[in-house]
Amino acid sequence: MEKIKILAIVGSLRKDSFNRQLAMAAKAIIGDRAVFKMLDYDDIPLMNQDIEFPAPEAVKRIREEVKSSDGIWFFTPEYNHFFPGVLKNLIDWLSRPVSDKEPQVLAGKPAAISGISPSMNGTALAQDHLVTLISFLNMSVMNSPRLTIPNAMQQLDSEGKLLPDAGNPYLEKQANAFLDFIEKQIDF
Ligand SMILES: Cc1cc2nc3c(=O)[nH]c(=O)nc-3n(C[C@H](O)[C@H](O)[C@H](O)COP(=O)(O)O)c2cc1C
Repeated sequence: MEKIKILAIVGSLRKDSFNRQLAMAAKAIIGDRAVFKMLDYDDIPLMNQDIEFPAPEAVKRIREEVKSSDGIWFFTPEYNHFFPGVLKNLIDWLSRPVSDKEPQVLAGKPAAISGISPSMNGTALAQDHLVTLISFLNMSVMNSPRLTIPNAMQQLDSEGKLLPDAGNPYLEKQANAFLDFIEKQIDF
C-alpha cells in the first residue's frame, strides 16, 4: 500500500516562524506513517490576471504538489484577526482552473488546520476565515479536531525556539485524526 502524502502549507514566510516549527513537530509525530512535505511558495507572484495564462512556472509547480498530495495541513498565523495575505494569494492561485479542461486542484482534498500565536486566541479567528474560504473551494475540511495554540511566547526555550512539546498531546491527537480522515476518503 502506498503511503499517504500530506502537504503542509505554512501561512508564514518567516524563517523562524512558530507555525513552521509547529509543522516540523507534526512531521516528527507523523514519522514514517506518511510522507510529509512542506510546500515552498515564496516565489509565487501576486495574483494578476494579466499573467494567469499560461501559468507562471512557480504556480505550475505548486499545483502539481497539491495534485499529488492526499491531504493538505494548514499551519497558519493570525494577522489582524485574519490569515496572512501570502496564504490568501497562494490559495487564490490554486483556486483557479488549470485550463478550460482541468478544474482547480483543491476541490475534494482533505484539509486540516492548526495555528499558534502569541495571543490568547491561538489563531482561532484566522482559522474560521480560512475554513470559510477553503469550504467555498470545496475542500473536505476536518473541522474537529482543529488546533489553536495560544501564548506562544510562554512556550519558548532559551534560544527563542518553540519547545518540542508545545501543543502536545493535542498535536498528536490531530495528526492521528487527520491520517484517519484521509484514509477514509481516498482509494488506494
Ligand atoms: C501584520 C500583523 C498582524 C498581526 N495580528 C495578529 C493578530 O491579529 N492576532 C495575533 O494573535 N497575532 C497577531 N500578530 C502577531 C503574530 O501572531 C506573530 O508575529 C506570530 O509570530 C506570526 O506567526 P509566525 O511566527 O508563524 O510567523 C500579527 C503580526 C503581524 C505581522
